[in-house]
Amino acid sequence: MPIKDRFDDHAHSLSFPVFFTSSYDSRKDRKYRYSRELNPTVEELSRQLSLLENTERSICFSSGMGAITGTILALAKPGDKLVMPTDVFGRTYLFAKNFLTKFGINVKFVEPGTDSLLGAVEEHADIVFFESLSNPLLRLYDVDRICRKASDIGAITIVDNTLATPILLKPSLYGCDIIIESLSKFIGGHNNAIGGSASGSLMMDTIDENRRSLGSSMDPMSAYLFILGLKTIDLRIKRSSETAKAIARFLNENNFVSKVYYPGLSDNSDNISAKTLLNGSPPIVSFLLDEGKDVQKFMESLRIITPANTMGGSNSTISNPYTMSHRNLSEDEKLRLGITKNLMRLSVGLEDLDQIIQDLEQAIKYAQ
Ligand SMILES: Cc1ncc(COP(=O)(O)O)c(C=O)c1O
Repeated sequence: MPIKDRFDDHAHSLSFPVFFTSSYDSRKDRKYRYSRELNPTVEELSRQLSLLENTERSICFSSGMGAITGTILALAKPGDKLVMPTDVFGRTYLFAKNFLTKFGINVKFVEPGTDSLLGAVEEHADIVFFESLSNPLLRLYDVDRICRKASDIGAITIVDNTLATPILLKPSLYGCDIIIESLSKFIGGHNNAIGGSASGSLMMDTIDENRRSLGSSMDPMSAYLFILGLKTIDLRIKRSSETAKAIARFLNENNFVSKVYYPGLSDNSDNISAKTLLNGSPPIVSFLLDEGKDVQKFMESLRIITPANTMGGSNSTISNPYTMSHRNLSEDEKLRLGITKNLMRLSVGLEDLDQIIQDLEQAIKYAQ
């Protein structure tokens, strides 16, 4: 059911207004003082996000990275052990490796996969960070088992749920402490704004206080665009997911595609937990183009799908992580993560299935 906007107290408009203001008359209002601290439009988005995430609160940030860095910096203290698999988003990995370690946080990177993460948590952890569905190889982590194990030893769990989205997975139902979303992707849904959120029921005052100090606050226009995105997220994800499932099957049978990464495919090792954990199929498909195909020519030949450094929009986009999102990693790091030259990540939009398949077919043909 779409979430309804709160009525504003002034004109009772159906659509919540954008409060373009830096500050407020302090004689009249003690709650709102300055928009870096609190803005009514951003506050309304936070309210709606917490309903979607099934948490007591959501805090909005200027970007997904703002939400990740702001949350970890608010909760970690020198000497803490942060456990994280290596297959997190490239910037998250670099932040943990190059930034957190300078401030006395003991970062322990583990090989990708639920079992290796569980093994490390069992040894010891103060904070556990992972992506419920990893980017770009779509490895599904067993949120249930990981959150239970972390809770047993008193560790905080932070789950980046950007690829799964709250429509397919609600980590709060499995006891996850903090859920991160890059709103810039599926929640926004129109490639028109950058933002992030951290949702949870405990430690939220600490995270919000830290956001106010670090200054990574969301602007009201972006908040308004995300509120619009929320109205259709359910429909968009359902439609894109159905199309993506069919595209994954098509690619799996294509002679010029050597591997497809997709949790819903029957030969995928994550298949059992995909059915248990996800409320549908992901709207993203990753695949390896055959070695004999030229990746750049393939991307240049696409007519409907646009090569772009993002995902989650109503128009399909594709990326080559090797030369795009993961370009800042060393050759060794890319290899270890399975980011090979011919890996493609397709974000499926709202176009007809036939249109996308025809586009892929013709681009594969020309990519000699
Ligand atoms: C899984 C994941 N988390 C976080 C981010 C960062 O989000 P933002 O670009 O909004 O800072 C991204 C961006 O691609 C991502 O893919």
